[in-house]
Amino acid sequence: MKKYKVALIPGDGIGSEVINEGVKVLKTIEQLDENLSFSFESFPWGCEYYLEKERMMDEDGIDKLKDFDAVYLGAVGYPGVPDHISLRDLLIRIRREFDLYVNLRPITLLNEGLTPFKDKKKEDIDFLVIRENSEGEYSGVGDWLYKGKPEEVVLQTGVFSRKGTERIIRYAYEEARKQNKSLTSVSKGNALNYSMVFWDEVFEEIGNEYPDVETSSYLVDAASLYFVSNPERFEIVVTSNLFGDILTDIGAGITGGLGLATGANINPEKNYPSMFEPVHGSAPDIAGQGIANPLAAIWSVSQMLDYFEEEGWGKVLLNTIVTILKETDRLTPDLGGTASTSEVGDYFVELLKNNI
Ligand code: NAD
Ligand code: IPM
Ligand code: MN
Repeated sequence: MKKYKVALIPGDGIGSEVINEGVKVLKTIEQLDENLSFSFESFPWGCEYYLEKERMMDEDGIDKLKDFDAVYLGAVGYPGVPDHISLRDLLIRIRREFDLYVNLRPITLLNEGLTPFKDKKKEDIDFLVIRENSEGEYSGVGDWLYKGKPEEVVLQTGVFSRKGTERIIRYAYEEARKQNKSLTSVSKGNALNYSMVFWDEVFEEIGNEYPDVETSSYLVDAASLYFVSNPERFEIVVTSNLFGDILTDIGAGITGGLGLATGANINPEKNYPSMFEPVHGSAPDIAGQGIANPLAAIWSVSQMLDYFEEEGWGKVLLNTIVTILKETDRLTPDLGGTASTSEVGDYFVELLKNNI
C-alpha cells in the first residue's frame, strides 16, 4: 500500500471551491485502488487569515509543510489585502523556500471546440511550457527611494544566477531529449541586455551537450504572436519566470481558458514537497457563486499523480477530463454549460467509477 500525505491550502475566493472537487477525486481514487491511500491536512492560510493574524501563513508554516509528499493549493489573493503581500508571503514564498524551480504548464487542446481558432486541430496545440519558477524577474530585489517625493525612484532587479539559469535550461533539454521533442527558448536579449543575453548564452552552451535536440530561440514578443498564430511550432518551451507567467495565460486563452489551465511547481531533486495548483487566481468576480470550473484543479491532481509515479491514474484523470469536455451541459458557464462546481466534480467522480 502506497500512502501519500497531501497538504491542502485552499486559499482565497474560488480556491477552496475548486480544491474540494480535486479532493473528491483523490478520495475516489483511493476507493477504486486498494494500493493507494491519501491523507489530508488542510491549512487555513490566505487573505482572511491575514486580516485576522497579520500574516499569510503560520510563522513555522514552511516547517509544517516540509514532511508532506505534496502541497495542493487553490488560489491566493483577494481585494482587501495588497496582492504583493498576499502572493509574495504565501504562494511565491512556498515556491522559493521549497526551491520549486520548475513550473510545468501544459498547453494542450483537449477539445477542438474550446479554441477560439476555427482552423486549429488538437495536434496543432499540444506543448509544454517549462517556466523558471524561483528567481528571474520574481526575485523581489529592489528598492523604493524618496517615496512620494518628486525625485522618487523605484528599482526592481531581475536576478538570473548561473545556477538558476543552467538548471532550468538543463531540465528542459533533458525533457526534450526524453520526449524526443524540439525545444524552444523564449527570451528578450534585444532589449534586456544583461539578463536575457546571458539566458541566450546559457541556452546555447547547454545545447552543446544535447546535439540530438532540435532547438529554436524566439523573442518573447514574436513568441506571443506564434502562440496565437502558429502554436504548432511549439513542443517544449523554456522561459523565464515572468515571461512564463504571461505566455501561459495566452496558452490558457487558446485552449479553453483559465478554468482549464494547470501548473505543477516541482523540485526535481525531491528535497521538498512539490506543489500543484490551477494557473488561475481567486476570481473575486465569481467567487461564492459555486460556478468556478474545477477542471483545472482536477488536472492539477493528474499532475500530482504523475509526480507520485502513479502515471496510470494521471492518464485516467486526463482522459476523464477529455470525456467530460464532450458534454457541454455538464460543464460550468465559462465553458458554455450551466453546471455548478460541485456538479462537475460529482459527475467527474461518477465517470471515474463507471470507467474503471
Ligand atoms: P483570475 O485567474 O482570478 O481571474 C481571471 C478571470 O478568469 C476572471 O474573469 C475569472 O472569473 C476567470 N476564471 C479564473 N478561474 C476560473 C475558473 N476556475 N472558472 C471560471 N472562471 C475562472 O485572475 P485575476 O482576476 O487577475 O486575479 C484575482 C486574484 O487572484 C488577484 O488577487 C491575483 O493576484 C490572484 N491570483 C492568484 C493566483 C494563484 O494563486 N495562483 C493566480 C493568478 C492570480
Ligand atoms: C501564476 C500567478 C502568480 C505568478 C501570481 C499570483 C504571483 O499569476 O501562478 O501564474 O505570477 O506566478
Ligand atoms: Mn499567472
